[in-house]
Amino acid sequence: ASLRQLLEKMPKAELHMHIEGSLEPELIFALAERNGVTLKYSSVDELRRAYAFTDLQSFLDIYYAGASVLLKEQDFYDMTRAYLGRAHADNVRHAELFFDPQTHTERGVDFGTVISGIHRALQDAATEWGMSGALIMCFLRHLSEEDAFATLEQALPYRDKFIGVGLDSSERGHPPEKFARVFARCRELGLRLVAHAGEEGPPEYIRTALDVLKVERIDHGVRCLEDAELTQRLARDKVPLTVCPLSNVKLRVFDRAADHNLQRLLDAGLTVTINSDDPAYFGGYVNDNFTEMFSVLPLDQRHARQLARDSFAASFLPEQDKRRLM
Ligand code: HPA
Ligand code: ZN
Repeated sequence: ASLRQLLEKMPKAELHMHIEGSLEPELIFALAERNGVTLKYSSVDELRRAYAFTDLQSFLDIYYAGASVLLKEQDFYDMTRAYLGRAHADNVRHAELFFDPQTHTERGVDFGTVISGIHRALQDAATEWGMSGALIMCFLRHLSEEDAFATLEQALPYRDKFIGVGLDSSERGHPPEKFARVFARCRELGLRLVAHAGEEGPPEYIRTALDVLKVERIDHGVRCLEDAELTQRLARDKVPLTVCPLSNVKLRVFDRAADHNLQRLLDAGLTVTINSDDPAYFGGYVNDNFTEMFSVLPLDQRHARQLARDSFAASFLPEQDKRRLM
């Protein structure tokens, strides 16, 4: 079989995907109409044309505007269902999804509405396709630690519906240590911990995410290579990096796909996974991320198999499930 077929067919896990970032322009318009929400854009094409990002913040502004059409439990279900269907087509067997409750609770949408709709879609995907899934609640790092604590309080009645917490939104100027106490509390609660670090922010943020927040995976982390000692530590401790190639190109972390440091990360002995981040905004789902990287970098079948295996190894699945899927 060709390398492309191997990439598309091989079972994989997706570990870095913001469910609000899977909202396609067509669904944004359909939900806007269903809910009577007025958008700044007059058509699907006009919205899509606005997806010309210069950095992380320019993307986040549009991403939060897109999420404003989500009001009802069914909206969150429909969005999640659409993503899971696409992921199933890409042979994703396990998906750990980020969601951003504060984007919705700030607009008056109840926490329970958000998590119940998303969770119900995950249950249906498990029943219909045998696909497993889990939820990771992200705190918006441009908001305060106090806001994060309030969000955690709202989440606790739904503790059985999510497995961990993460940290996303504007990275620069919002270092991990801003959330030291709330992550310590989440750790006491037995939640799994991850954080975005070293996407736009410096390698130092990767270090403090590990040392202060005590996260188990780093989301993005591509800037680690600027610090040799940190790179060696990540390799030695097998800290997974959930890398999102098309995102990094769209948000100008790298100028072109061919400039992406994926191969260098692998050569440094790091545990890396390939993910789509916000597939509706960055031009592709997980298989598109694989095929783009393998078409511009000198990666081979061994790399493909390693990336698939590590996607399960780096997941929060119980060990026996990992072994079954790997
Ligand atoms: N970085 C930070 N915040 C985000 C991202 C990202 O790539 N996607 C959605 N929220
Ligand atoms: Zn992300």
